[in-house]
This record gives sequence, C-alpha cells and structure tokens, in this order.
Amino acid sequence: MKILMVCLGNICRSPLADGILRRKVRENALDVVVDSAGTSDFHAGEAPDHRMQETAVKRGTPIDFLSARQFTAADFEQFDLIYVMDKSNRENVLKLARHEADAAKVRLILNEIQPATDQEVPDPYFGGWEGFEQVYDLLDHATDIIIEKIKNKDI
Ligand code: 4NP
Repeated sequence: MKILMVCLGNICRSPLADGILRRKVRENALDVVVDSAGTSDFHAGEAPDHRMQETAVKRGTPIDFLSARQFTAADFEQFDLIYVMDKSNRENVLKLARHEADAAKVRLILNEIQPATDQEVPDPYFGGWEGFEQVYDLLDHATDIIIEKIKNKDI
C-alpha cells in the first residue's frame, strides 16, 4: 500500500499529514509507504514551514527531514491512494488524471472523518499559530481513521 498526501505548497498541510501517518505506520508496524507533494512548485526543495515544524515536533511528530516536491501524473502510477487537503487541490490533481482509474484514487482527507461532506483542511500559511494547531488536530484525527482502516483491510 502506498499513500500520497497532497496540498498546494507541500510545506504546511501535506508534509504534516505525511509525517503523522508515517509515524503511526511505524508505531503500528504496518507495511505502508507514505509520501507527500504539492500541486505547485512554489516551494520545491524546501523543508516544511518552520511554524508547521514547531507545531508538529511539540506534538511528537518531527517533520524536518521532509522536502517539498511537485505532484506529477507519474504519481498516479506510484500510489494507491492520493489524499488531498482541499477542493482546489482535488481539482488540480484531477486535471492530471489520464483515466478513470487515476481519478478514483483521489480523496478529500477530511471525508475520512465525516464521509461525503467534502470538508477542507484550512490553509494555515497566511494566518496565525492557532491555524497550525487546528491543522494538526484535524490531520491527527483523519490519520487515526486511516490507520484503523488499513488495519481492518478496509481501505
Ligand atoms: P500548504 O500551504 O499548501 O499547506 O503547503 C501553503 C504554502 C505556501 C503557499 C500557499 C499555501 N504559498 O502561496 O506560497
């Protein structure tokens, strides 16, 4: 099983989702590869935003080793599931889908918490620290559900 987390810049939301899920995969000794990417190349090669890093490490999830990269159509071949953080990420990813099987891999991550409601992980980049804490809470919850589904072979 290979899971890709996707946002716009790949420096705030998706590297956090990636880091939390990697940690939980390791803690649960699961055979899952996790990675992340951004639909833009704005921050390619950069480490996660320092505010996201600080929020994450304080809560037990170091993400300093991650490096931003842009999502490409080749990711549809590499990954089984592609979780996007918001609807604009979904639109941008779906533009690169070559057939229905590609598109079927794309899911809004918060639909794991409240199915079919299409809620979005808010972009914290232009806001204050509380936005980063909120993103952590949301992604911690969603990744708990993803881990349970993997364990139950329900994903
Ligand atoms: P992310 O946040 O998509 O969660 O990584 C953003 C990071 C950078 C920008 C926008 C969102 N930006 O416009 O540079």
